[in-house]
Amino acid sequence: MGVLSIGGKKNFKFDTHIVVDKVDFTENKELELNSNKNDSSYNLLLEGDNLYSLHFLMKEYENRIHVIYIDPPYNRGKNDFVYTDNFLTNGNKHLKWLEFMNSRLILAKRLLRDDGVILISIDENELFHLKLLCDDIFDEENFIANFIWQNKYSPSNDKKGITSVTEYILCYAKDKTKVTYNNLPLRDDYIKNTYKNPDNDPRGPWRSCSLYRAKNPVSYEIVSPTGKVWNKPWNYSKENMAKLIDDNRIYWGKDGNGVPSKKVFLFESVGRKPTNLILGKDVCFSLNGSEELKEIFGNREIFQHPKPVKLMKFLLQIFVKKDSIILDFFAGSGTTGQAVLELNRDDNGKRKFILCQNNENNICMSVTYERLKRIIKGYTNMKNGKFVAGIPANLKYFKQT
Ligand SMILES: C[S@@+](CC[C@H](N)C(=O)[O-])C[C@H]1O[C@@H](n2cnc3c(N)ncnc32)[C@H](O)[C@@H]1O
Repeated sequence: MGVLSIGGKKNFKFDTHIVVDKVDFTENKELELNSNKNDSSYNLLLEGDNLYSLHFLMKEYENRIHVIYIDPPYNRGKNDFVYTDNFLTNGNKHLKWLEFMNSRLILAKRLLRDDGVILISIDENELFHLKLLCDDIFDEENFIANFIWQNKYSPSNDKKGITSVTEYILCYAKDKTKVTYNNLPLRDDYIKNTYKNPDNDPRGPWRSCSLYRAKNPVSYEIVSPTGKVWNKPWNYSKENMAKLIDDNRIYWGKDGNGVPSKKVFLFESVGRKPTNLILGKDVCFSLNGSEELKEIFGNREIFQHPKPVKLMKFLLQIFVKKDSIILDFFAGSGTTGQAVLELNRDDNGKRKFILCQNNENNICMSVTYERLKRIIKGYTNMKNGKFVAGIPANLKYFKQT
């Protein structure tokens, strides 16, 4: 039993034994997509309430999902989107939302592999309740990070008070000791500003790195090709320094008399370690997600506030392997599916996605499925009229019956 204090109610107990009556999903063969003939496996789209979808997946996918990303309704208390975002009952704003999340997160945990992780998008309406709930379900020890994403560029001038320009992505592991992390590719602007090639080294651009060491240095003389002698507290042993010089890995400045530094080549970069601060300029802002939908559908109002694909790729890249199965059970417009397909295209991966979406306002069929179909088959960009090539993949569509 989980125990929490919510809305002043002390020791609130969630039921952790979730039972649903009948779970039936039927495949709609007419919606199947087969554009990757070299692959016999399928991505899945499940139309139905995700409580049932998670139960349905249990048979085949228990302990098999590597990464779960979800973007549930934030419980803003408004219903101005194409989906419900108001869980108010009996005067308690948070209780029903937490019960709703609790039952689904318990099932989600069972689907995760031992080294699996879950990422949950949220804003300040429920962030703090969600953190407590996740501590309860996944255990505080398995908290990995609270990513802070700058989703807006500037404040809304028509609003009073402090504009929030951030959202959050809470991340938990099933077992943190088993999780592995990938480094991220270096940012384009960082490469441009940092890596240069003033000596036209055939190995390509490099950044300079100090050769001095403050602690336990080794002092000896080195001589530049122009004959200038440098006696400094070096970072390298005499032997290793000789190897660096031999391999043309020391830069002696434009005229050969500058302070020597080590060349670190771009091709050798191991990428950058992820941090929990995600700047909009690096992964796009909220409005970019809407622009992406406009390019695909010609209408950004078809679905409000989809996440930008770049943000999804950023988050997934930290954890996924080339063959990971990725689940999103609040799929919305299907951004996670597009991100997985693009990651596969970028590195020849064989990742698979499973998306679950109910059919309120026909979202699953007319937005989620339609978007995936266009990304897989190719489509005309509605903003510039150019054809965007498809990313070959296979998809099966199941509907709750
Ligand atoms: C915030 S949106 C997700 C947006 C998505 N990340 C994107 O980029 O488009 C949440 C979605 O979850 C769906 N949803 C809400 N409750 C659900 C449920 N019980 N089962 C399945 N889908 C649900 C809503 O219809 C909505 O499309």
